Order: sequence, then C-alpha cells, then structure tokens
Amino acid sequence: MAQKDIGHKIPIHTLTKTAEVRDFYDEWADKDQYNRDMRDWNYTGPLETVTAFQEHAVSKDVLIFDAGCGTGLVGKELKRQGFNAFHGADLSQKLLDSIPGGLYQQLEKVDLNMPIKCDDNVYGAVMCVGTFTFGHVKPPALDEFVRITKHEGLICFTINEAIYKEYGFDEKIAELETKGQWTRIAFFKSDYIASKDVGAWLGLYKVIKV
Ligand SMILES: C[S@@+](CC[C@H](N)C(=O)[O-])C[C@H]1O[C@@H](n2cnc3c(N)ncnc32)[C@H](O)[C@@H]1O
Repeated sequence: MAQKDIGHKIPIHTLTKTAEVRDFYDEWADKDQYNRDMRDWNYTGPLETVTAFQEHAVSKDVLIFDAGCGTGLVGKELKRQGFNAFHGADLSQKLLDSIPGGLYQQLEKVDLNMPIKCDDNVYGAVMCVGTFTFGHVKPPALDEFVRITKHEGLICFTINEAIYKEYGFDEKIAELETKGQWTRIAFFKSDYIASKDVGAWLGLYKVIKV
C-alpha cells in the first residue's frame, strides 16, 4: 500500500516528531471529530482486535493495558465483549479527556516511546490498536509491553502495513520469538480502515516468562 492520507487536515504520513503527533490528535479531538471520522470510515480495528483477543483470553477479569487508548474505542469494545478491568494510556490529553467517565479504571498521559512507569508483570494483557503507524510508537515499545505483561499474558496489536518493515516491526517481532519471550497465536491482515484502503497487520502473541 502506498502512503495514504487519511488524516483530517495534516497527512498522517508526514508526522515525524512526537510533539507533532500530540498536537495532531489534540486538534482531532475537537468537537468529537475523531470519533465521528472513525464511525464514518467504518474503522474496524477495535472490533477485530478485541474479537481476536477474547477468543484466547483466559478470563473476562484479566487486567488489560490499552496502549494508545485515544478516545477509548478499544475500551468500549472490551466492555461490550464482557471485559471489565482496563487501564488506558495515551499521548493526547484532549483525547484522554474525551473518554466517558468510569470506562477505564485508570487513565494516564504517557509517551510510549519512553519506558512505561509500571512494574514488571502487572498486566494480563496489552492491547495496542492503531498506535503503530507513521511517526507514532516505535518497535522498542513491544519490549516494554512484554515487560509489564505477566507470564502467559496476551499482547494484541495492529501495525499499519506501510510502516511494518520500514520501521523494523518485522525484525522486533521475530527477535522476541527467537529469544523465547513470546509465541505467536495469530498474525493476519486485518480490514482495519478498508473504506480508505488502509490496511494493518493484526498480531496476537502469548508472553513467556520462565
Ligand atoms: C489512530 S489513534 C488510535 C487510538 C485508539 N487506540 C483507537 O483504536 O481508536 C493513535 C493513538 O496513538 C496515540 N499516540 C501516538 N503517539 C503516541 C506516543 N508516543 N505515546 C502514546 N500514545 C501515542 C495518539 O494520541 C492516538 O490516540
């Protein structure tokens, strides 16, 4: 796929710096525009990832870290599919402020390109949907996701297909497999934002800590 311009004002593939990404989403939060665009574009990332995740989750009570939670679309889908314990983290305070109260037990403004302020082995699962894309969160975040996830916990993510190799996600995923830090459950091309011809890889991995 070529670089697709799906952003509302600034072409998303031109974003390179974290401050630009933050400002982009802070603006997109205005007047609920992000949520309205996602509805109009039939964005299926949250539905596809939560559906893949719930097929393998051992319990609906598992504590989930939603990395790059945005306006909480993944949290809404988790709740709809019966999960009840999730924390959210995102770069954009305006997106975080737009999340309905009580949906997440904890919300935090973070830069996921930095170490996550969390002990090892806290979460039963990490969801990261739409956040591995142009100029956003880079492959080392996967090391952090593994670190904060418990033994046999699940990590479920999407990666925009246009940056999958360019940013080295293919190598990071293979490295974690080679080192025995996770095993693959599923990896396939998701529909993601088919209406805009924007595709993403969907990965579901089980963390191994022995
Ligand atoms: C396409 S949105 C996806 C949001 C949500 N997961 C969803 O599926 O609707 C990408 C999200 O990544 C967040 N993001 C981008 N760079 C980030 C960073 N360095 N640290 C944390 N979040 C970041 C943005 O603020 C935005 O909410």
